[in-house]
Amino acid sequence: MNLTLKIWRQNGPDDKGHMETYPVSDVNPEMSFLEMIDVLNEKLIAEGKEPVAFDHDCREGICGMCSMFINGEAHGPGKRITTCQLHMRSFNDGETVIIEPWRAAAFPVIKDLVVDRGAFDRIQQAGGYVSVNTSGNTIDANAIPVPKRDADRAFDAATCIGCGACVASCKNSSAMLFVSAKVSQFALLPQGKVEAKDRVRKMVKQMDLEGFGNCTNTGACEAECPVGISLENIARMNREYMGASLSSPD
Ligand code: SF4
Ligand code: FES
Repeated sequence: MNLTLKIWRQNGPDDKGHMETYPVSDVNPEMSFLEMIDVLNEKLIAEGKEPVAFDHDCREGICGMCSMFINGEAHGPGKRITTCQLHMRSFNDGETVIIEPWRAAAFPVIKDLVVDRGAFDRIQQAGGYVSVNTSGNTIDANAIPVPKRDADRAFDAATCIGCGACVASCKNSSAMLFVSAKVSQFALLPQGKVEAKDRVRKMVKQMDLEGFGNCTNTGACEAECPVGISLENIARMNREYMGASLSSPD
């Protein structure tokens, strides 16, 4: 396959940035999208040029690092996959492929396709945890009965990989799907009840401080989420937040 890549190049956070065109030839359709960029980078390095900076780690859909906007879609044309799970057979010979970083004020570009998603870490640090009694008489987690339905829903919420595609796809750059998944994974379990009110108030507060927009129920986040986090989590977070605000207002 021969392709024309148009890639966002930006030297650093203060650089204006621009699109640059790279023709690539003999692309194997069985390559992953990231392997295709690896090949491009090897060529650029051999020519003495700066390789394209992009985030990646596990390359198997787990870590959420490979944030990229491909032809106007977060993680590209496939459904329920991350960029590292996308293969070149999804594209046609002769096609032009446009590759950009996530674009959101709360995710500033560090270089080329790499953005700073530290805002997600700070939201997690604000309340995305449970305290555990380590005094020596800790209750075995398996001894706490959890209804199967709740366990399944908590597990589904916990599959969020923190990739940020929801923010990048949202016209308001809202982080509600991510935050609601992180709230829901605990809200549904007895272990998460102790700090539930504090958790939702602190995480929502941090989300607002980071500059993410609000949710207007468009659903682009759910459509582009690579692990299928459901909008029902946002409804749950809103209920949790309302309850927490009424019982212990800030
Ligand atoms: S909710 Fe989905 S799109 Fe958003 S960070 Fe989690 S996995 Fe990524
Ligand atoms: S590199 Fe880990 S999810 Fe893509």
